[in-house]
Amino acid sequence: MQKENWGTRLGFILAAAGSAIGLGTVWRLPYVAGEQGGGLFFFIFIALLLTVGTSLLLAEFVLGRSTKEGAIEAYRKVAPKGQWHWIGIIGMIAAFLLLSFYSVVGGWITTYFVRSFTGNVTNPPDGDHGALFESITANPWEVGLAHLAFMIMTILVVQMGIKKGIEKASLYMMPALFIIFLILMIRSLTLDGAWEGVVYFLQPDFSAVSSETFLFALGQAFFSLSLGVSVMVTYSSYLDSKASLPGSAWSVVLLSVLIAFMAGLAIFPAIYAFGLQPDEGPSLIFVVIPAVFQQLAFGEAFFMIFMLLMLFATLTSAFSLIEIIVTPFVRGKEHLRKRVTWAVGLLIFAMGIPSNLSFGLLADFHIFGLTFFDAVDFLVSNILLPLGALLISLFVAYKMKPSIMQEELLRGSRFGKGFYFIWLIMIRVVVPLSIIVVFVSQLIQ
Ligand code: PHE
Repeated sequence: MQKENWGTRLGFILAAAGSAIGLGTVWRLPYVAGEQGGGLFFFIFIALLLTVGTSLLLAEFVLGRSTKEGAIEAYRKVAPKGQWHWIGIIGMIAAFLLLSFYSVVGGWITTYFVRSFTGNVTNPPDGDHGALFESITANPWEVGLAHLAFMIMTILVVQMGIKKGIEKASLYMMPALFIIFLILMIRSLTLDGAWEGVVYFLQPDFSAVSSETFLFALGQAFFSLSLGVSVMVTYSSYLDSKASLPGSAWSVVLLSVLIAFMAGLAIFPAIYAFGLQPDEGPSLIFVVIPAVFQQLAFGEAFFMIFMLLMLFATLTSAFSLIEIIVTPFVRGKEHLRKRVTWAVGLLIFAMGIPSNLSFGLLADFHIFGLTFFDAVDFLVSNILLPLGALLISLFVAYKMKPSIMQEELLRGSRFGKGFYFIWLIMIRVVVPLSIIVVFVSQLIQ
């Protein structure tokens, strides 16, 4: 049994949405959507989010809230015999590795934010935004320090605990994130020539859609909702027993969809209005976006708040990734939280150093043809997360007692038995099958 709880249901929803809305939603989704047929990809993504994604999210919620335990004990409590708690351990390892390179990007964002005060990011001395990005990421000291600063910000919040740390920070950061996006979206949509960007983002291009599109969209849907790592098991274990799980899940999913939509509408119209191309891939926000803001009145200020938004989105996801590792260690020993959080956070920082150096000193060091950064990303995104998602859905679907699941799912909600049965079919059949298809096809690629 855990002592602490979220102070309010809103706090829980904002923290869970904060975990979901991160680099995956505000950075990866726009450029992947751009590459994969624009509008159609986006709608496939949303459809998968609302069906398969929501079902698995509910499965994690049911497991976490009914056991009131984190990544390891939740599995032990349901199935004391056997090795099921390894699902939680895989999640903890995945979270550890994921945060190790996520925090590197968090460091870049921190650097860009700090540098934006001097004005030379949107307006680099030699006018070349790409070269500036390369020189920044290749400089081990500046990005190393920023990487450390990002981890320390994460640690400082998480060491304060669920209610005083993560919930409080989310209650400020998430509404701020929403308001900043709204401002940027309106600014972007009111530029001359913005419409072309809206079309690029939302008009379905059927010729760009292939079976690969579905695979990307499903992987993206799981990643976007932080599924497969037991993050949502952990967060819901701190939730009041009376709160409705379906209601909470819908709120988290709808907030994620809304922000993904706003991200697209903030980014693409501005890019097109200034005659640039969004085909920059991962460096989109560090290369194309500064070039956009360079041409905008008060661009420096807009860029600054854009980076602040990215920082909030990345931090609230980082909180959840470190929390799932901390929770099992401080179970019943809350007084250890500070020490454990610092230890775990600094270890994650150390693990991230080679990823950070992948853009400079270690650029030529390859594992299976990938840089260290890309290799860890591949291991987490293409292997550990889908594996975790598959195991969690099978575990909940076949190991939990149906009567407990039904009770937990429906308590406090306005749904009836029909909803439970649909959900059961989803997690027993549809979710595992879709993951297997994605998994296998990614491995044989
Ligand atoms: N959902 C986060 C994002 O979109 C990433 C994440 C995945 C966070 C898994 C926690 C667990 O960036």
